[in-house]
Formats: sequence, structure tokens, C-alpha cells
Amino acid sequence: MAHTIGVISIKGGCGKTTVVSNIAAIMANEFNKKVLAVDANFSSPNLGLHLGIINPKKTINDVLNDKCSPFDPIIEHDFGFDLLPASLGAKKTSPNRLKNKLHILKDNYDFIVIDSSPNLNDEMLATMMAADKLLVVSSPDYPTLSCTMHATKIAVGKKTPIAGIVLNKMYNKQFELTIDDVEDATKVPVLAALPHDVNVMHALSQTAPASIYYPKKELGVEYRKLVGSLINEDYQDPRLLKRLFSRPNKVDENRELLRGTWKP
Ligand SMILES: Nc1ncnc2c1ncn2[C@@H]1O[C@H](COP(=O)(O)OP(=O)(O)OP(=O)(O)O)[C@@H](O)[C@H]1O
Ligand SMILES: [Mg+2]
Repeated sequence: MAHTIGVISIKGGCGKTTVVSNIAAIMANEFNKKVLAVDANFSSPNLGLHLGIINPKKTINDVLNDKCSPFDPIIEHDFGFDLLPASLGAKKTSPNRLKNKLHILKDNYDFIVIDSSPNLNDEMLATMMAADKLLVVSSPDYPTLSCTMHATKIAVGKKTPIAGIVLNKMYNKQFELTIDDVEDATKVPVLAALPHDVNVMHALSQTAPASIYYPKKELGVEYRKLVGSLINEDYQDPRLLKRLFSRPNKVDENRELLRGTWKP
């Protein structure tokens, strides 16, 4: 039975869809998992666009409106995982049915990864309810942190466990919030500190997840470490010098603590 990971934030543009496509690609290609990525950003879906799927014939909107089976719109993507796309401009759906519809698919996958809407409405609540655990995407600035604190509070209220925060688009500048700042404010561990990397935008222009091209760059390694801890599999940094001379940092420690919370 698949384990379902919801990727949320209530601030637009901080990287949810990018995180979903990258972790799905790494789970499938690096760790040989059977993965389904689901676009549950019903009002402004773009997971398909990130992956070069422009106008799918059937979508999750049809599934939620009982127009087809949840299996019908699934696309076997060349990147090694399956995609359940959504459609832009579709008429109002029933997002609170997401959990039941995804349940039908669970026997076919090891992991289901859900891309959520940034809007704090029933769309995001649908992801929270459908997920076994959540990743909250944030970036190291006050406005995003305040949204992240709010998102974590709501998730706690809904009783969906939060695996941790993915801190994205880090420049490692003095003016940024630190990992400690974010953890102190949210009481949630940071599970990845992903650098701001122009290759992510370049990869998007090629409709591909950047991390698969850069297995030895900070971005690619950090994504792989995140996935390894989420799915409870070992992963070793391929950069010998880093392995020999860097000590585990706070985020490495958080990932170690997360290991074992999911068992196949
Ligand atoms: N680590 C990164 N470095 C540089 N650019 C990034 C990084 N992560 C994401 N981006 C870029 O940020 C933009 C927004 O990313 P994305 O669409 O994933 O955000 P989102 O949270 O899903 O947005 P929305 O809330 O609108 O759905 C994209 O152009 C993406 O390429
Ligand atoms: Mg998005």
C-alpha cells in the first residue's frame, strides 16, 4: 500500500511543484520505487506543465466529478513515475473526495506524492486529509515564514503528521533567516536546505526535474538525502571530499530522526 506525502505551503511560488517533481523523479530513478505524482492544485494546476504534459485528455478533475475511474487519466511519464494531472479552467470539483479516490490507487504504488494549492481553502485541506504525512515548503524570509507557521498550525489541527519543512531557494546570505530561526518559530524540523540554483529554472524550461541532471551538485545531493530519509533508505553523498571532511549538520540530524517513521 502506497504511503502518501502531501507537499504544501500557503505562499505561492515557493517551490511546491518543483519539490514534487524532483522527489518523485528521485524516488523512481534513484530508489526504484513505484511512484504516482498527483496534481491537486485544482484552481491553478501546473505539475503537468513542469513535466511537459500540456493538454491531458482526462484529468483528476474528471475523477473527482465521477466522470472516469482514477486509473484513466494516469500518464506513464518518461521520467520513470506516473502522473495524475489536473486541468486548468475545469468546472468546480469536489476536492474533499481526493482521499477516497487516491485510496483506490494505493495498491499500485509505493509512494503517492501530492502537489497542493497554495490557497487556504478546501483544496489544500483535501491534500492535508489525503496525505499520510506532509512536507511544508518554505523559504528563508519573514513573509514566507509567517505563512509556514500558519500552515503547520492548520496541519496540526487536522491531525496530519508533518514530516518536516523543506527550506527552498536559499542564498546562504546573512540577511536570510537561519535554519534555527525557522525551527524555533514553527517547532518543525527542517529536512532539506535547498540552494537557490539557476539550473532549476533552466530545467523547468526543458520541462524536467533539475535534480536528475545534477547528482553531484548541492541541489541534487540535498534532494537525494531528503528522499532517502522520507522513504527510509540509505543514501551516501557521492562527493568523497564532503564525506570525509564535513560533519553532519542539524538538517542531517533531523533526517536521521525521521528515518524509520515509514516502514515498507
Ligand atoms: N531551488 C530553486 N532555485 C531556483 N529556482 C527555483 C528553486 N525552486 C523552485 N524554483 C523556481 O521557482 C518558481 C516557482 O516554483 P514552483 O512552481 O515549484 O512553486 P509553487 O510553490 O508550486 O507555486 P504555486 O504556489 O504557484 O503552485 C519556478 O520558476 C521554479 O523554477
Ligand atoms: Mg505549484
